[in-house]
Parts: sequence; C-alpha cells; structure tokens
Amino acid sequence: ALQLKGRDFLGLVDYHPDEIRYLLDLAIELKRKQKSGEIYQPLKGKSLGMIFEKSSTRTRISFEVGMYQLGGQALFLSKNDIQMGRGETIRDTAQTMSRYLDGIIIRTFGHRNVVELARSATVPVINALSDQSHPCQALADYQTILEKKGKLEGLKIAYIGDGNNMVHSLMIGASKLGMHFASASPEGYEPDAEQVRLAREFANEFGGKVDILRDAREAAEGADVIYTDVWASMGFEEEQKERERAFKDYQVNEQLAGHAKGDYLFMHCLPAHRGEEVSEGVIDGPHSVVFDEAENRLHAQKAIMAAIM
Ligand code: CP
Ligand code: NVA
Repeated sequence: ALQLKGRDFLGLVDYHPDEIRYLLDLAIELKRKQKSGEIYQPLKGKSLGMIFEKSSTRTRISFEVGMYQLGGQALFLSKNDIQMGRGETIRDTAQTMSRYLDGIIIRTFGHRNVVELARSATVPVINALSDQSHPCQALADYQTILEKKGKLEGLKIAYIGDGNNMVHSLMIGASKLGMHFASASPEGYEPDAEQVRLAREFANEFGGKVDILRDAREAAEGADVIYTDVWASMGFEEEQKERERAFKDYQVNEQLAGHAKGDYLFMHCLPAHRGEEVSEGVIDGPHSVVFDEAENRLHAQKAIMAAIM
C-alpha cells in the first residue's frame, strides 16, 4: 500500500511513479465527483496556510477553493503581511504555524526556503512554486495529457524555451512516467544540470528518455505535446529585453507546431505572453488545452491534499 499521509509534496523527484499515478487517478476521480455534484469532505475541520511571496492567480484560487470543497478552510498569507516579511525566521514561522494548521503551501524564490520550511514544520508542506520547480502544475499537466490522450507512456513532450522551474518539474515527471521528453533552449538558458542528471537517472530506471537540445524544430519533431512558458519568469522581469533577443527563434507558432504530430496538444502553465513565447493562433487555436490545465490545478491539488493531509 502507498504511504502518503503526512508526506510533504516538494517535488515529483520524491515520489515513485506508482505514487504519481495514484495521485493522477485520484485527481480524475475527484474531478468526476465534483462534476457530478457529489460532496466529498475528507478534510472537514482542517486548515491550510498559504504563504505567497510572489503573485498568483491559479495557484491561490485553486488551493483555496480546493480546500473549501474538501471540507476545510484556507488562509491566504502574503509574506509581507506576516512577520516573515519583517525577518521572523522560516524555522520559527514553520513551528508556529504547525501549532494551528494541518498543512502549509509556500510560493517563494529560493527552493531552499521550501526545504527549510518543510524541515521545521510538523505538518505537510506543499511547494506552490519555487525558482527550482513547480510540481503542482506538472501534476495537473500530466492529468490533462492523460485525459486527452488516454495514456502517458511512450508519448513525446517537447518543451520549447526557458530552462526554468516549469521545465524541471515536467522533465522529472516525464522521466518517471515513461515518456520521451525533449527540450530546446538558447545558450545560457538550458535546464539546470543537476535536474537533467536526475531526470536521466529516472528515465533509465523507469523507461523514459530525456533529450536536451538547442534546436526548437528538432525538439518539436513528432511531438504529442508542445509546451512552453514565459521567457522571463517572476523575479527576472528586468531581463525581459535581453531575453526577448535570446529567445526570438523559440516562439511556438504555427510553423514550429507543423513539426509536431497532427493531433498535438499545445500546453502552457499560464500566465502567457501572446506574441512572445507563443503566437496568438496557437494558444487560441484548436490544439490548445491551456484552460483545461488551469482547471486541473484544482483537481490535482485536491488529490495531493486529500492524500497527504
Ligand atoms: N500556473 C500558475 O502557477 O499560475 P499562477 O502564477 O497564476 O498561480
Ligand atoms: N516560470 C513561471 C511560471 C509561472 C506559473 C514563473 O516562475 O514565473
């Protein structure tokens, strides 16, 4: 039997493929329950604290609503409104919060903050985006692909663009789920070498494949899914201009998508910059599933919370 109660959810890196598949199945089941109006409240009386150091539309709303639907309540704690913003340590914050709450999510810059919070808290901690990874988004994305394609194993997912938190979580997930992952990034913007090393290790063990490429067309060739993300993530806004130059050959548009399979899916975690990393025609076109991904954040995170809290 799987042991998920009490676990943190800091990255897919810590989860066995069987556990990831269990969460995906649970997400699909919770989606079905919710759509059919069935009440399911395993977290009645429980509270979730949500620490945000960066902006959010999807993550905040989906966790808050998800917790409510599961019978519990969620508290939005913007970093600057709690004492952490005035220098109270993460350790003291974690120990204090653990006396009130049944789970904590954190969106922050340095991934070490997430790790530190998890180490000091006595309740489960969920990574709601760090500079290293965004595992909740990746789980919702694999749920979306599974729903649309009926399987994951053997599919090719091409990620075009910045080697950021998103690519890391997608790559680790793909490598554990037996998928072929290919990324294309300009020089200086490749995925983190340690994350690539880990993904290759998992791919070897679980039958996936990881290609880190330069050429966007080569990555997109024969892909079942084309994924992209903004060129300048939160915290990198001042690099916008130089990044626009570096990434000019990395737009996902109709021409690039022409290299993918005829029934490819276009995916993006959102928010998107139309006309930069993706053309309007592609993101608003018939292959795009970006709002299904956004919706699945709700169901996937309900699965995580129901499983670990
Ligand atoms: N995709 C995502 O995490 O969106 P938000 O930044 O709006 O939460
Ligand atoms: N890579 C983006 C994802 C936003 C959901 C960022 O970190 O800003």
